[in-house]
Amino acid sequence: MSTPANLTVRPREPLPSPQRERRFSEQALAELEEIATHYPERKAACLPALWIAQREYNGYLTPSGIQEVADYLGLSFAEVEGVATFYTMYNLRPRGRHHLEVCTCLTCAVLGAYDIVHRLEHELGIGLGQTTEDKEFTLSEAECLNFCGAATVVQVGDRYFTHITSENVMTLIDELRRSENYTPSKLADAIVKIHIPGSSENGGGSSDAEALRGIPGPML
Ligand code: FES
Repeated sequence: MSTPANLTVRPREPLPSPQRERRFSEQALAELEEIATHYPERKAACLPALWIAQREYNGYLTPSGIQEVADYLGLSFAEVEGVATFYTMYNLRPRGRHHLEVCTCLTCAVLGAYDIVHRLEHELGIGLGQTTEDKEFTLSEAECLNFCGAATVVQVGDRYFTHITSENVMTLIDELRRSENYTPSKLADAIVKIHIPGSSENGGGSSDAEALRGIPGPML
């Protein structure tokens, strides 16, 4: 098939490699090496390595962060990027200081999860997937958070808040405004520690969830 005379065909240029940065601290590198010993080959440590990167890169994976993981594990950028973009728990964009993830699966939905979402949208002035102008909150939906018996559940970083309603959710927001945490990084750190035997007495982010049993009302 011939090319029309007025069409210029350019071969597709490969995308430029991301800028190489080295943001892993000595502690992060030690964690990565410890975690890699638990896998038959270091390439298999891609998931926890991405969590380390998510923490070290302020809560989200930049192309440089993906490249740094690829370099440490002997993988290509494309291999690590494919993993990072497949799993929704990896952030590819900056998140607010608190990432609010409202479970909208069946039980929580029946018990008013969307009333909570709508209240938050109204009060914070953002929609799902958006971040407030002051960078305090990002609002997302989440799949079942496995605490259906305490619905409705809102995850914020490594903490679960249960029995949330559209009436009490602003108490949670006020509480979060007063806290000093950066929850996307805190969640990543909790997950990294789950992979390191002995580094966390309570298995990272599961402690608050464990403590919920039998406690009625929102966990504030
Ligand atoms: S449906 Fe919300 S925690 Fe299971």
